[in-house]
Amino acid sequence: MKKLSLLILAIVFAGMAKAEDGHQLWLRQAPVNKAVVTGPECIAAQELRTYSKNDVTLKLDPTMEQDAYRINNGVITAKNEIGLLYGAYALLRGETTGSKPFYKLRILNHWDNLNGTIERGYAGLSIFWKGKPGERKFRGHTIFVEDPDQPIDANLIKEYARANASIGINGTVLNNVNASPKMLSAVYINKVKQYADILRPYGIKVYLSINFASPMSIPAKGFNKGKVLKTADPLNPQVKAWWKAKAKEIYALIPDFGGFLVKANSEGQPGPFDYHRTHADGANMLADAVKPFGGIIMWRSFVYGAAHKGEDRVKQAVSEFVGLDGKFRDNVILQSKNGPLDFQPREPYAPIFDNIKHTKQMAELQITQEYLGQSRHLVYLAPMWREFFGFVAPEKLVGIAGVANIGLDTNWCGHHFSQANWYAFGRLAWNPTLTSEAIAQEWLDQTFEKPDGQLLSVMLRSREACVDYMMPIGLHHIFAFDEHYGPEPNGFIAQYPIEWCPVYYHKANNDSIGFNRTHTGSNATAQYREPYCTIYDDINTCPERYLLWFHRVPWTYRLKSGRTVIEEMEYRYTRGVNEVEDFIRIWNEAKPYIDDQRWQEVDARLQHQLHNANLWRTTCLDYFKSFQEKSK
Ligand code: GCU
Repeated sequence: MKKLSLLILAIVFAGMAKAEDGHQLWLRQAPVNKAVVTGPECIAAQELRTYSKNDVTLKLDPTMEQDAYRINNGVITAKNEIGLLYGAYALLRGETTGSKPFYKLRILNHWDNLNGTIERGYAGLSIFWKGKPGERKFRGHTIFVEDPDQPIDANLIKEYARANASIGINGTVLNNVNASPKMLSAVYINKVKQYADILRPYGIKVYLSINFASPMSIPAKGFNKGKVLKTADPLNPQVKAWWKAKAKEIYALIPDFGGFLVKANSEGQPGPFDYHRTHADGANMLADAVKPFGGIIMWRSFVYGAAHKGEDRVKQAVSEFVGLDGKFRDNVILQSKNGPLDFQPREPYAPIFDNIKHTKQMAELQITQEYLGQSRHLVYLAPMWREFFGFVAPEKLVGIAGVANIGLDTNWCGHHFSQANWYAFGRLAWNPTLTSEAIAQEWLDQTFEKPDGQLLSVMLRSREACVDYMMPIGLHHIFAFDEHYGPEPNGFIAQYPIEWCPVYYHKANNDSIGFNRTHTGSNATAQYREPYCTIYDDINTCPERYLLWFHRVPWTYRLKSGRTVIEEMEYRYTRGVNEVEDFIRIWNEAKPYIDDQRWQEVDARLQHQLHNANLWRTTCLDYFKSFQEKSK
């Protein structure tokens, strides 16, 4: 009897040990508390003492490059404690040599609002900002409002810091690019200081998104007796003085504050155009304010509908910025999305990277899967980002920003496999030449106890599958309005800007489909450097994955496969759905190797993904086929 209960207990414990909710991310190693670690006492030493199986020596060598580390026979050498920390995590995941980061700036952008919600967040509420129910309602839902009195969750932020440090991320923008001016009020700057203090030992600097019109509603310490201004004109001396005072106020509390991220004159945000000034006027004014403290300005090029209203949307960033190239201060960086439209499952690269030559540039990648199934689809994004680096040489950029997919969900990212995208972003920001495959394998090895070999194949095929079942052969932005999840190819609302309407992008009628962006159309192809300009412009050389992005073709047009446009669509949509079916088969086969909770949770999402992929196929094919019916 006694033996039996012991056995039952053992089984229960074994089961408990295996229960995993994903909160530990890829840092699931059990403490071994065995290693003797010598050298400076720091977080790296603590981590190694807890998790390393072997003894380690830590050494400082000030001649080494910032953030680089060397590993040699149980000795980690680095310039400072942060380098040692990177070395420690590398050693723990099995690296045996050394490494240095490709980019100095490896930054997460959180689109978190002060009321606790997250723009395009699919993993719960913000880990940084908490709100409370307000009095107003929208469509029957209570609207949350800011509540600066709520305490911060220091433990959670420490876990966040550790996860980021383990993959080399060294900066974080704590709030949405659609920024509230309140972010710069004293009460919130104090909170930012608390976050900065927790993140600093992990090598992570804090940055803030700012609202360009902040001087008109928020006082700055020591400025104008606390009065606000009537203008935010960047050339106005009072406005300049306000920003200088604000910078001083921030840096007094956070001496290593990173700087500002700015979305100006885009989608309704205020900016220098409001005063007939240029992006350079706006960016330089802010750059001057943070320069004495070593701060930077990341100025976004995601603009449309302002200065070049009516022009093909994908051309507008180049049109707005090309004439300003070289006119920015040296602490301004132009931050551009990888594609010229908006984080679609597949876009050609953004030609702004070809056109800007005398201004520092950063790429903005989107980790949160706004247009790739959100936290409900298994889509591994590294292949998409690697595709981008195939066109834009990593050396052209000074840094990488990633729109974070992190929220209060227990597993941080909603979908267990979405964690791989956070991981891959960090690893690519460290080394953009790592392969998608190597990163996925690293992540799988650390995330699952016994990763089944086929899971790697699922991850590597998942992005192409998503393109197939959502928007094959160059279709783009045919998403349901605003939610950007399901299909709405017939979407058109007269009151909306036309650039929000799916019909603007595919332009299907009874004869033809596609957006003519060649020299006979919007001439967006001319914004590309050679050879891409010529390749994309000519339908015979344009890769078919971009066909309807660059070309308008009759329904009778035959692709290289010999299939007509609609036949090719049918083939691709179906192929995408079949892929998801195969992912489910593989996931079923992996069941014996995966802990139960995570297996169940991923399984439920895969079932939903299949359902949604099918919906995309039927909705889009029915809609596009209807033109053929009408033309008969
Ligand atoms: C997309 C997204 C918005 C976001 C914008 C941006 O349009 O849907 O929510 O604010 O990009 O990057 O500024």
